[in-house]
Formats: sequence, C-alpha cells, structure tokens
Amino acid sequence: MRVFSGVQPSGALHLGNYFGMIERAIAWQARAEEAVYFVADYHALTSVSDPAALRQSVREVTLAFLACGLDPQKSLFFRQSAVPEVHELAWLLSCVTPMGLLERCHSYKDKTARGLAASHALFAYPVLMAADILLYQANVVPVGKDQKQHLEVARDIAQKFNDQFGATFTLPEPDIAETVAVVPGTDGQKMSKSYKNTLDLFGDPKSFAKAVMGIKTDSTPVADPKPTEGSTLVALFSLVASKEETAAYVADLAKGGRGYGDYKKELLARLDARFAPIREKHAELSKDPQLVDDVLADGARRARLLAAPTLEKARRAVGIN
Ligand code: ADP
Ligand code: TRP
Repeated sequence: MRVFSGVQPSGALHLGNYFGMIERAIAWQARAEEAVYFVADYHALTSVSDPAALRQSVREVTLAFLACGLDPQKSLFFRQSAVPEVHELAWLLSCVTPMGLLERCHSYKDKTARGLAASHALFAYPVLMAADILLYQANVVPVGKDQKQHLEVARDIAQKFNDQFGATFTLPEPDIAETVAVVPGTDGQKMSKSYKNTLDLFGDPKSFAKAVMGIKTDSTPVADPKPTEGSTLVALFSLVASKEETAAYVADLAKGGRGYGDYKKELLARLDARFAPIREKHAELSKDPQLVDDVLADGARRARLLAAPTLEKARRAVGIN
C-alpha cells in the first residue's frame, strides 16, 4: 500500500497543517508499506510570486517534515518540480476532465474571493493535484478536510480515464481527521496563513506565546461560567490533551471563577510541552546545511523511478508512445 501527500511551500507551517496533515502523514509512515510525501512548489506558484521566498519555503517545509519525524530512509520526500513528468500526465488527465467538475470546486471561488489572481493555473489546480496523486498510484492520501473535494475530483478523473482507456490508475482514498477536522485559528475561523490567525510550529517562542495569549475570547466576567460550546480554547486544548483532561478543562470553564488568561496559560503550557521535542529536533537539524539538499536529491531520484512506469502506461493507453 502506498500513502501519499503534499503541502504547498507558501508560508510558515502552522498547527492546522500539523494536526490536519503532517501528524497523520508521519503516523502512516510506521504502518504503511511505502510513504511518499512532497512539497508542491508548482502549486505554490498560484500564490507565491517571489522566487527567493519560494526557494526558502521549499527548504523550510522539508526541514519541518524531518523535524516532525519523517524518516528519509523509510519514506520518500521530494519536491514536485523534480519530477516535471507530472505536467504531461496533467495534460492527459485534463483531456478527460469535464469543465463542470472544476467549476464546482470551492477552493477556486474561495481563493479568488480572498484576492488571489483568477489565473488558469488556479482553476486547473485540481487536475495537477490529481496528476500528483495518480502518477504515484497512491492508495491513501492524508489531508485536511478542506482538501476533501480535491480528492473526490482526483478519484472522478481516475475513474473517467480508466473507463475510457482501460484500468490505468489506482483510485485514491482520503484519510481525514474526524476528531477536529478543522483546526481553528486565534480568531476562531479556520487556521490559515491567508487569515493571519496562525499559531506557527517553528516561530520564535515569544511570538507563539503572544499569539496564544491573544486568542479571541468573549467578555464573560471572571466570576461567571464561560461558554464551552464552539470554544477555540477547548478545540485547541483537545488536540494536546486526553479526553479526560479536556473534560476537566471544560468543566472548569463552565464552573466560572477564573479568567480566560488562566486557561490560555494552561493551553500554552500544553502546546509548548507537546512541541518541545519537535522544536529541539528542528534546531538540531537546521545546523546541517547539506541535509535538506541531500534528502531532496535522493527523493527526486526515487520519485522519478516510481513515476516513470505510470506515465508510460498512461501514454500507451491513450495512444502516445
Ligand atoms: P493554508 O490554509 O494555511 O494555506 P494549506 O492549504 O497549505 O494551508 O494546507 C496544507 C495542509 O494542511 C492541507 O492538507 C490542509 O487540509 C491542512 N490544513 C490547513 N489548515 C488546516 C486547518 N485549519 N485545519 C485542518 N487542516 C488544515
Ligand atoms: N492542494 C494541497 C494543499 O493546498 C497540496 C497538494 C498538492 C496535495 N498536490 C497534492 C496534497 C496531492 C495531497 C496530494 O494543501
């Protein structure tokens, strides 16, 4: 079985990325026969226009995966642009992709509404994403809930191609966190770099603490019971505590008598404890300037070997070979 996923190099990684995708991807590494992960730099061109920032972000995402537990011996990690064959497959898939399928995608509408340029690339993004997944014959794709529709599109495209040209692609299954499918940001909306409401995994500790202490809460007086339904503090706390500990945190909020500052400090202590080992590893690995280059070079070589037979099969199926 092959597990496959990727993340765009378009800014600092945050807790939403970690709990929505990275943690699950790393957990699969222990269970899966093969884990293949990548940094989607072609995808990031839909939103990043600074070449130096893009290069830097590719390195940061790679280092972040290593710090979070990616084992480059066991798993494969590569940058999307190291396997440009993905574009040839994207074209073959484009030819069986109905416009209506892409017109129904929320992410294009959401991203243009947020101010991203309404480019052809942004519209065709799900086809390139399908090519990423299908090129590697992925069985399972761990992603956050916001990527669910893209996974459905990838399945639809694979099915259409298989129906038209014969069995060529594995139909991928999504693996989505059901407990907290969407990690809230400091303002209570979905945590996202485009909303500037993130808690960054590897930021400096002072800014992290400031962001946690700045989580938006209501104006319930200290003595009064605090609402717990839909609470951002509770949602974040539950990610780093057991069920029983979360129940106790909720009960305490509901009792009243303490201010939000106390609960934020408790949350901050939990988050710091949880991420201390990952942050230490990050600091240690960043001392080796060659590491990221080596991992990406080895990943590129292995990824091309995996991709070649699928592309050949797809070319043959459509009559181009
Ligand atoms: P952003 O919204 O900050 O731009 P990305 O779109 O780059 O994040 O997301 C990368 C991965 O992290 C995807 O699999 C996505 O589903 C997941 N993810 C991002 N934000 C969240 C969140 N708030 N909750 C759960 N998963 C998330
Ligand atoms: N679209 C994903 C995101 O924004 C990144 C991505 C591109 C991806 N290709 C993929 C994720 C293939 C999983 C599989 O986060």
